[in-house]
Amino acid sequence: MSDSSPLLFQPLKLRDLTLANRVVISPMCQHAADRGHATPWHMVHLGKFALGGAGLILTESTAVDPRGRIGTADLGLWKDSQIAPLKAVVDFVHAQGSAIGVQLAHAGRKAGSEPLWEGGAALSAERMAADEEPWERLGPSALAAGPGWSAPRALDANGVASVVKHFVDATVRADKAGFDVVELHFGHGYLVASFLSPNANHRGDALGGSRENRMWLALEIAQRVRAVWPAGKPLFCRLSAVDGTLDGWNLDDSVVLARELKRCGVDVIDCSSGGLTEETRALPVPRGLGFQVPFSERIRRDAQVVTQAVGMIVDAQQAEAVLAAGEADLIALGREALFDPYWPHHAAATLGADPGYQRWPVRHGVWLAKRAPGLARARAEAAAASDNQETSTQ
Ligand SMILES: Cc1cc2nc3c(=O)[nH]c(=O)nc-3n(C[C@H](O)[C@H](O)[C@H](O)COP(=O)(O)O)c2cc1C
Repeated sequence: MSDSSPLLFQPLKLRDLTLANRVVISPMCQHAADRGHATPWHMVHLGKFALGGAGLILTESTAVDPRGRIGTADLGLWKDSQIAPLKAVVDFVHAQGSAIGVQLAHAGRKAGSEPLWEGGAALSAERMAADEEPWERLGPSALAAGPGWSAPRALDANGVASVVKHFVDATVRADKAGFDVVELHFGHGYLVASFLSPNANHRGDALGGSRENRMWLALEIAQRVRAVWPAGKPLFCRLSAVDGTLDGWNLDDSVVLARELKRCGVDVIDCSSGGLTEETRALPVPRGLGFQVPFSERIRRDAQVVTQAVGMIVDAQQAEAVLAAGEADLIALGREALFDPYWPHHAAATLGADPGYQRWPVRHGVWLAKRAPGLARARAEAAAASDNQETSTQ
């Protein structure tokens, strides 16, 4: 690839992994797993993004412990039987030339919610207790995520140690499944994010109080995961750069945490925001185009770390401008990728980096290349016929 090619389509080397381009599919919960196991839905859902040409595809939030599922049908890596169905997806994605990562998560006090299309409300304690897998809201302190949410059980020292172990064990399984990347989900108000924020963490022990204490769990998980995740594979971490509450976790805090995570061996900070509470937010982040890019720019500059920008990045020129301005190294797409799974191929054409459909899967590209001149001719003929008809009726 020449240096004059668009930045979006220049490779990025992270440890021993080289991403073919800078487009990342952002994690998106599907509520389609079978007791944590990937199903044909995941093969098609994630596989189509590989056909679409993304450099890296991240799975949805994948629970490290059934207690930490967001919803009933989340993916999981809390037991060995969950490895093989995910490995099939990983193998398919690799065969198309994309890399794939798993987002490991524990939902903490926000465990147990309906899918959005059913309303997104908190599940009742009875519903959670009736589940065939153990399920419980856990947090740093017994503070509910919002109205309608039960207060979590505050984790004691043993509980904290088992959370760390669950992340480590899930990471070992992720390697067995062949994933190229692990992304630790430390954002959106889930367990680790709730330890970070002074508005969810009211502990009086060594894991609460000062910012340093509140960061302990995040750094412990990052270090312990790094120790078992192969040295050649990159580790990502998603943060809520600001937690969306008054006097909560802020951007300065995120810069400090990003520096420390980098020292623990985290390679990329994925810069999201918000989600600490389910209440009307005191400090909503206005959702304009590229609304979280400034978080990525600040963290990249001040923590000197590779970043991923996400949030309403919708067209090729916008994405290219973010990279050109040095505001991020990777561009993640969520809803835009649902709208157009072939976004990377379309963006390459828009930026002049794929004149001949050569980036497309060969089974498709060869037909699209043949179709293009015929389609242009057919359209020109149709336009001429319509002009002739208009002239003859005037
Ligand atoms: C259907 C859906 C599910 C999501 N699930 C997750 C998730 O599992 N983990 C996560 O970190 N973010 C999740 N998100 C947030 C996206 O990863 C992304 O950060 C957000 O949608 C903003 O990007 P966009 O404007 O390109 O959609 C989800 C978003 C959508 C639309």
